[in-house]
Amino acid sequence: MGELYVLDHPLIQHKLCILRDKNTGVKEFREVVGEIAALMCYEATRDLPLENVTIETPIATGTFKRLAGKKVAIVPILRAGLGMVDTIIDLIPSAKVGHIGLYRDPETHNPVEYYCKMPPDISEREVIIVDPMLATGGSAAAAIDFIKGYGCKHIKLMNIIACPEGIEVIQREHPDVDIYVAAVDERLNENKYIVPGLGDAGDRIFGTK
Ligand code: PRP
Ligand code: URA
Repeated sequence: MGELYVLDHPLIQHKLCILRDKNTGVKEFREVVGEIAALMCYEATRDLPLENVTIETPIATGTFKRLAGKKVAIVPILRAGLGMVDTIIDLIPSAKVGHIGLYRDPETHNPVEYYCKMPPDISEREVIIVDPMLATGGSAAAAIDFIKGYGCKHIKLMNIIACPEGIEVIQREHPDVDIYVAAVDERLNENKYIVPGLGDAGDRIFGTK
């Protein structure tokens, strides 16, 4: 089974309180989603391989570590996942970005795909799928299926808030995928929203409600 990493660093917990607060406005919400994504990226990339490099500093020559050139792709699930991309590619400027458009049908709560565009060499890349919410797990499971269809072997899932139902779905359907979350909330409500959660992430990032 894939690992579940709960990234409960004090800075992340503090920023998550801002997202949860219903009085937080669009501007601050968007900024804090980006800040949390950057902090989570720091942990989710902890296992990137390093290689030795010899560098002459102004004082002496030494052998140091740098990234071994492992290729990374960030794949946001539209719309809300877009809010996590910019701060991550600030940290990994060589990363490419693939987009997958999924929305939850309001009646069935099942994911419906409406857009997909991946980098041509996606199968050679370490893929990090980003989406603020892991609720029923339907959207993330469908996105992972889709990306595996391109031949990708190394996939991680990064969500800000998850719940036990969604985690179980991913661990059952995609046991090879490690999950990185900032919090695991209690449950889903009758409308399949995470309780207590933060509401509708896409609407709060883009101001559509
Ligand atoms: C939200 C969220 C996830 C999905 C999670 O997106 O950003 O993609 O719901 O729910 P699930 O785990 O039950 O599939 P939504 O479908 O509301 O679309 P949006 O990002 O366009 O608002
Ligand atoms: N999607 C959201 O944006 N929020 C939830 O709580 C569940 C799904």
